[in-house]
Amino acid sequence: MTAPRMMKLGAFVHETGQHVAAWRHPDAYAESGTNFAQAADVAQTAERGLFDLFFLADSAAVSVFGSPDSRGRMAKTVKFEPITMLSALAAVTSRIGLVATTSSTYNEPYTLARQFASLDHISGGRAGWNLVTSNNEAEAFNHGRDQHVAHADRYDRASEFAEIVTGLWDSWEPDAFIRDKESGVYFDPAKMHTLNHRGPYFAVRGPLNVAASPQGRPVLVQAGASDIGRDLAARTAEVVFTAQTTFEQASGFYADVMNRLPAYGRSPDEVRILPGIYPVVGRTEAEAREKFDFLQSLIHPSVGISVLEHTIGVGGLSAYPLDGPVPDMGDTNGPLSRQRLLLEAARRDNLTLWELCLLNAGPRGHLLAVGTPSQIADVMEHWFRNGAADGFNVMPAWLPGSLRDFVDMVVPELQRRGLFRTEYEAATLRGNLGLGVPHPRWRKD
Ligand SMILES: Cc1cc2nc3c(=O)[nH]c(=O)nc-3n(C[C@H](O)[C@H](O)[C@H](O)COP(=O)(O)O)c2cc1C
Repeated sequence: MTAPRMMKLGAFVHETGQHVAAWRHPDAYAESGTNFAQAADVAQTAERGLFDLFFLADSAAVSVFGSPDSRGRMAKTVKFEPITMLSALAAVTSRIGLVATTSSTYNEPYTLARQFASLDHISGGRAGWNLVTSNNEAEAFNHGRDQHVAHADRYDRASEFAEIVTGLWDSWEPDAFIRDKESGVYFDPAKMHTLNHRGPYFAVRGPLNVAASPQGRPVLVQAGASDIGRDLAARTAEVVFTAQTTFEQASGFYADVMNRLPAYGRSPDEVRILPGIYPVVGRTEAEAREKFDFLQSLIHPSVGISVLEHTIGVGGLSAYPLDGPVPDMGDTNGPLSRQRLLLEAARRDNLTLWELCLLNAGPRGHLLAVGTPSQIADVMEHWFRNGAADGFNVMPAWLPGSLRDFVDMVVPELQRRGLFRTEYEAATLRGNLGLGVPHPRWRKD
């Protein structure tokens, strides 16, 4: 008898919560970007909820969007560097996967492969890398450039970058290290493999100076939804993180990514697609709505505008009346998929500019679910059973409250329905996700 298919859950965490005004909530952790104890409590709460992964978003720059007034009102400005943070969290958690977002646009593949392979050892096989191509243009200014790298170039570079990182992770066969004190042989040189990569963007000889990872290699996550982003996901990703607001969009995306796999010699059992869900849970529907409205009421107008500008990569929106229609905008060099998704929603629902600000500042293009545990589980179950998701990245609005609500109210409901585990199945992230180890390059068969 085969085991029933179970949902996979990630806790996708921004230091002070996903909601832009989260830090103003009277009970919120307002210092998580500078306070390790608060961050550790959040990770341990996710582990108590048996989440597959604790997932950090990232940006290697302070946002340069918006007025100085709005900047001074935003909490998501300072944060710990994610690999450093996850390495520390590895010591205070034992089962949950630890996934960091690190951009391929402004990093070197050798350094990144080394960091994640090290995290994988330190955590006992719980590391994952979320490959992104940088949605914050300001990262360019911190890495020797006057301008953000163009969208298509970012993806060309990302594709070569992923080839190198995964190649470096295959540098050592698992039994390469003999460490025989008697004979004096430390490792078998025949089981060390040199990459010798030369391509348009990088020259990396290798091998990696970190031994084979405890879970074969760290899990590769990818987030990027344009056509070229989906191709990269189909070629490289084992977990795909995506922003989808409706079941129709999500099932279309799911089928599209899965249909691209055979071209790269891959099959659906090698990939888990996890859309974001932004749950606001109440014991009653009215209580949930009240919680959400309260958070929305904490957004200052200048913040609402700035965050929208940042999300869609367009400036100058404060010149338009907040209660007027959303102005027309052309494509940008920024996050195309997110821009199109939001503008489609604005046209469909006839939103004013402020209503679009509120929509964006809340769930930021992800599925918003405000309701009771059973209403939220209904939506998740529908997406999960009908080809739109293999699970979800849960995006807690404020911390620690929204994550605790989910763990204490929604997780038991999912378990009651037989949709989610009641204990971890494995010690590694790959094991809990039910993913095999990708074929290493040194294997000849
Ligand atoms: C769901 C999702 C989450 C993302 N998270 C991040 C992030 O944490 N940091 C980052 O620099 N870019 C992030 N990105 C940006 C992507 O890597 C990419 O640069 C951007 O989406 C543009 O590519 P696209 O048009 O293919 O979506 C994210 C994108 C998506 C769709």
